Amino acid sequence: MLSNDDYLSILKELKDYAIYHFKDEEKIMSAAGYKGLEEHKKLHKQFEMQIDKFSQKQKYDDAFDLYDYAAEWLINHILNTDQKYSDWVKEQISLNKIDIQNLFD
Ligand SMILES: [Fe+2]
Repeated sequence: MLSNDDYLSILKELKDYAIYHFKDEEKIMSAAGYKGLEEHKKLHKQFEMQIDKFSQKQKYDDAFDLYDYAAEWLINHILNTDQKYSDWVKEQISLNKIDIQNLFD
């Protein structure tokens, strides 16, 4: 069984990775001129804020609620919300309007 410290450490790692990943996504969306960027950024921020709420409670007892929340959010976000910008970016790449390779150099 995890200690509260372990739980909080996992929450911190989850948030840090989410921020790292969201920034990359937002960079791609911005470079591709995706019109839904600001709305997408709000959804990312809401996820970060919800993870902060779990962190503030500092209760390992909430681990199952965290798991349920994060799993549902991530699955829905990846399959639906991210898919929208992904289709747009692929189209921009095919039209040579964005060079993904040079974005992360
Ligand atoms: Fe996203």
